[in-house]
Amino acid sequence: MYAQAQPHDPIAEIFPDVFLLRGSMRVGRGMRISRNMTLLRHDGKLAAINAVRLSPAGEKQLESLGKVTHVIRLGNFHGLDDRYYVDRFGAKFWCQAESRHYSDPPPDQLLEDGVSLPVPDTDLFVFEYTRRPECALLVRRHEGILITCDSLQHWGDRRYCSILVRAMLPFIGFRRRTLIGPLWLKYMTPRDASLRADFERLLQLPFSHLVNAHGSLLRDNAHAAASAAVRRAFS
Ligand SMILES: [Fe+2]
Repeated sequence: MYAQAQPHDPIAEIFPDVFLLRGSMRVGRGMRISRNMTLLRHDGKLAAINAVRLSPAGEKQLESLGKVTHVIRLGNFHGLDDRYYVDRFGAKFWCQAESRHYSDPPPDQLLEDGVSLPVPDTDLFVFEYTRRPECALLVRRHEGILITCDSLQHWGDRRYCSILVRAMLPFIGFRRRTLIGPLWLKYMTPRDASLRADFERLLQLPFSHLVNAHGSLLRDNAHAAASAAVRRAFS
């Protein structure tokens, strides 16, 4: 019923009460890509964002950090392990309406403009023009941490990408830098339209760091890197 845990690192505390799990996902024969989960902790409770199932040892570490009370899906195409987390930890599940690439579990709470999020000092950003639902979170602490799924990505390294995937990535637009996911952008852009306005609105958010569902953490200069990525994507 549930997908198995796949290779991953230990959970790392990247800022106080903000954790990053760098894991992976097999996407085909000889093909593995990185897949990350971010955890936000408040009062001993954890919100799992872009949830990734962990090994038994990983779950032990997770449980030592707090209790998973909320699971938040930011991207339409992620959600493989959401049902597992909801069942395993009794967590409440949040996603946007129509986020149905993984239709199970149904949301307990909808992610929509104006909603009160279960983690303090955190704002929701909703993409307005994408063909399928996508959103992001801004943590208004530590000079601003932007948490995305597939939209804005930072590839500082190729950890957990198989040799075949490493060879392919540059040819499909995944250079080792900050970028708008090229496959995501192509699929998510409506015919004869552009997502530029959404990304320009995203750039109005005050953030210094970026963490997303693939690739690696970008510390300190994320806003400038994101601006450059947006310029490249829409020039
Ligand atoms: Fe993705």
